[in-house]
Amino acid sequence: MPAATLKWFFWTPHILSSHTANMFEIKSTLPADKPAAYAELATLLQGLLTGETDFIANAANTAALIFNALPELNWAGFYRLVEGELVLGPFQGKPACVRLQLGKGVCGTAAQQRQTVLVPDVHAFPGHIACDAASRSEIVVPVIKDGRLLGVLDLDSPVLSRFDAADQAGLERLVAIFVEATANH
Ligand code: SME
Repeated sequence: MPAATLKWFFWTPHILSSHTANMFEIKSTLPADKPAAYAELATLLQGLLTGETDFIANAANTAALIFNALPELNWAGFYRLVEGELVLGPFQGKPACVRLQLGKGVCGTAAQQRQTVLVPDVHAFPGHIACDAASRSEIVVPVIKDGRLLGVLDLDSPVLSRFDAADQAGLERLVAIFVEATANH
């Protein structure tokens, strides 16, 4: 990896309860080999979530890992499905809209369709809900466990067309790891 990097920390399970360690470096620009970068991130997330099933704790650490590991993001986090609405969950970034309706906006569309929605230009997406005017592109992955919709993972970027099929595949893998480790909320 080149020297022009963001510095961040990651935690391995055996030191989770004691102290942070292992300063790690990642690119501040998009990696040339996204699948490899996501594979590495998947390994880190697997380690981070091993032995913990609490939804809020795992969602918080997943959002923090993603936000600190991936470049060109201004928001990363979860909305939980609560009594038919998407309610803001653990996230990293600026304060965001609290309640979203199913079928509305990018999150509500992904939740209703139970499919990832990738939006290259949020201004061109009818009904996009702008929590942060800086957001220009977005990807939302539904979180489904045992056939039940638990919520969505939402990533926003200030860069147009920030997300592509490799991001979708990588993020869907991260959500699968989250779902496998985590109990229903
Ligand atoms: N833009 C989203 C709303 C959530 S924020 O981006 C955090 C949407 O259209 O559903």
